[in-house]
Amino acid sequence: MSSKLEAIGIAKRYGDAVALEATDLVVQAGEFLTLLGPSGSGKTTLLQMISGLVAPSAGRIEIDGRDVTHVEPGKRGIGMVFQSYALFPHMSVWDNVAYGLRMRRKSRDEVRAAVDDALSMVRMTEYAKRFPKELSGGQQQRIALARCFAYRPSVILLDEPLGALDKKLREHMQSEIRRLHKELGATFVYVTHDQDEALTLSDRICLMNQARIEQVGTPADLYDRPATRFAAGFIGHSNLLEGALDDARGTSGEPILLAAGGRIPLPINAIGASLAGGASVAPGARHTLLVRPEAPRLVEPERGFVDGTIADVVFFGSDTRVQLAMNDGSELTVRCERSLSPRIGDKVGLVWDPYRTTLLHV
Ligand SMILES: Nc1ncnc2c1ncn2[C@@H]1O[C@H](COP(=O)(O)OP(=O)(O)OP(=O)(O)O)[C@@H](O)[C@H]1O
Ligand SMILES: [Mg+2]
Repeated sequence: MSSKLEAIGIAKRYGDAVALEATDLVVQAGEFLTLLGPSGSGKTTLLQMISGLVAPSAGRIEIDGRDVTHVEPGKRGIGMVFQSYALFPHMSVWDNVAYGLRMRRKSRDEVRAAVDDALSMVRMTEYAKRFPKELSGGQQQRIALARCFAYRPSVILLDEPLGALDKKLREHMQSEIRRLHKELGATFVYVTHDQDEALTLSDRICLMNQARIEQVGTPADLYDRPATRFAAGFIGHSNLLEGALDDARGTSGEPILLAAGGRIPLPINAIGASLAGGASVAPGARHTLLVRPEAPRLVEPERGFVDGTIADVVFFGSDTRVQLAMNDGSELTVRCERSLSPRIGDKVGLVWDPYRTTLLHV
């Protein structure tokens, strides 16, 4: 893969307020990259600087290796789709989709072919003669997508395009967007604050927090190896076990974290001298370990790394979430098979593969 889009030291200030700190980001050709993060983290600001609608305070944007920082939005070869569909109410669906092509002075035949093609892609051919107000929210969003796809931009920017739709329709449109991304072969940069949407859609996720990039990686990277406490907390459910390293090592020489009232082996080779990121292995050093709910297995009390009492059992369809009150007063959430039929008040132990846990750096 080659790089399609690059943000180099791009930054935005409004007076004294920093909307985006100096940021570097590379998006590969044909990639589906999602900007994910809480409200106000700078997602829209970054996207708008890529589009050219917002001028950066510093840094530059390159598309296909060309510096486009001072190129106007319409000449960057970019398509955009926003949360509000902004369809022209007085124009038919067909004319809405044709609008951008006519603006680009395409021939009548070219326009017809491109509009028909785009409408068929979003499966709206039979709605061509309707007006926007005669369409549902999901249908209007399809037309907004068709309007963008019609002139075949090689980069498509989408800012919370499904934000106004209800959950069921949103999930349906997510699979539509995945299909359209494959069909078009274009590079997608997609903004959402919904972690499930980001995990479902993306080749890579760029997690943003407080005007900067927190971590960039595949959905699996972010879920399995979050670099920070923020990343661990933002994606998926996380149990964070905090404690200090014991003086003694485990049977394979691994450091032992004293946390949640137990002795927890850390993910490190027996001979390995340092933890991930060079963190201290000195006895007494404090660490935070991320244990996802699906890692632990319930065992007899005192047979695991930690012990607790089942405080609550929540049914989740395919599995069950068990809430545990640990011996030191902390809480832990564990997913378990329904067949184990855990009961409130039962005392249990927990074990897991240390390599399914992650030591956080910050
Ligand atoms: N035109 C502006 N003038 C002043 N401050 C702005 C302007 N646009 C954005 N900001 C500020 O920059 C920060 C980042 O805003 P941005 O719109 O990029 O956030 P976001 O991640 O897209 O949030 P959301 O999920 O709510 O859309 C916010 O603190 C916002 O208030
Ligand atoms: Mg936004």
